[in-house]
Amino acid sequence: MHTAAFADYRSYPLISALATVQALPDQVLVQWADGRWSPFHHPWLRDNCSCPQCVYPVTREQVLEILDVPEDLACSRAQIDHQGCLQVIWQDGHQSRFDPGWLRAHAYDPQSREERRVARAHSRLWDSSLQLPVFEYQAVMDDPQALLQWLLAVRDIGLTQVRGAPTEPGALAAIARRISFIRESNFGVLFNVQSKADADSNAYTAFNLPLHSDLPTRELQPGLQFLHCLVNDAEGGESIFVDGFAIADALRREDPEAFRTLCEIPVEFRNKDRHSDYRCLAPIIALDALGQVAEIRMANFLRGPFDAAPEQMPRLYHAYRNLIALTRQARFRLVRRLEPGQLWCFDNRRTLHARNAFDPASGARHFQGCYIDRDELLSRILVLQR
Ligand code: OGA
Ligand code: ZN
Ligand code: ZN
Repeated sequence: MHTAAFADYRSYPLISALATVQALPDQVLVQWADGRWSPFHHPWLRDNCSCPQCVYPVTREQVLEILDVPEDLACSRAQIDHQGCLQVIWQDGHQSRFDPGWLRAHAYDPQSREERRVARAHSRLWDSSLQLPVFEYQAVMDDPQALLQWLLAVRDIGLTQVRGAPTEPGALAAIARRISFIRESNFGVLFNVQSKADADSNAYTAFNLPLHSDLPTRELQPGLQFLHCLVNDAEGGESIFVDGFAIADALRREDPEAFRTLCEIPVEFRNKDRHSDYRCLAPIIALDALGQVAEIRMANFLRGPFDAAPEQMPRLYHAYRNLIALTRQARFRLVRRLEPGQLWCFDNRRTLHARNAFDPASGARHFQGCYIDRDELLSRILVLQR
């Protein structure tokens, strides 16, 4: 039942009907048919009124600011209307209606909040035993359900492979745009990973690249990275991945002091060529507001000299060595050779990637890559789930 409008494009299934509502001096107390109680304070209800005066129906964005109603505004009546919605009549005559599906989805009693916390997407940590999630190019191009399954794996596992893609240069753009627009950088909309004499990055040599994230030199590291194999006739050049969150987790358990050091002491990453000069000073491990590992920023070949207080320098080196040592442990590493028509899509702010050295004399090797921000991934998932 979606009888009342709400400021959103999603739909909210009716989980439980409203059973009783009580107007208290500072709140409306709701009891649901399944027995749960949810308080809704007057300012919260007034703030979330979705009538056309409070929310512009064209944009579904709020125009009301809560300061524009009295702080002590109370309701003169609260009742369940004949369509099962909560109806509130305010002392100043304004009327609000709340769809019970929407109201339950936003209820802030402890049980409802805990349900939402549990239902939030959680990273699934992995190690070398990961069953690599593999998807078919044509399916993700044609079938929204297959696309959604792929994107959920990118979000929750942070490493996926797609097979059966064309091997023409530029083909990567089409599949990336199934998610959203591509994030351009100084390396182009698509960048070519090939060994070349005038390389402006170690990536464009035949050297091995140690485990890293791309563009740690930017305030916001790209969320997703794609690497698409067009040609791979050279010996060597295998791709290597580790779950940076799993590594941070291991460091936290095995050497908490090193973990703290990498969360606290910022490190500068630099990427400079004849035309550009990007620098970013940030800790290698970033935590979110709940203290969970949210991001890894790491590329040894782009790192500036450590700049820390003299008494911190020994422990910074100790911590940095321990982190690299963990990335080198076989238990964390997934090693695969990418074949033409296959591509990697991974969470660049979580999953570190590397490649073995290859021998350019033994054959050609040509990958193309691009980036998309994580916001675009999350938005596409939510739209596909509507
Ligand atoms: C890069 C990179 C991996 C590869 O270009 O940043 O990590 O397999 N390349 O060449
Ligand atoms: Zn209103
Ligand atoms: Zn890279």
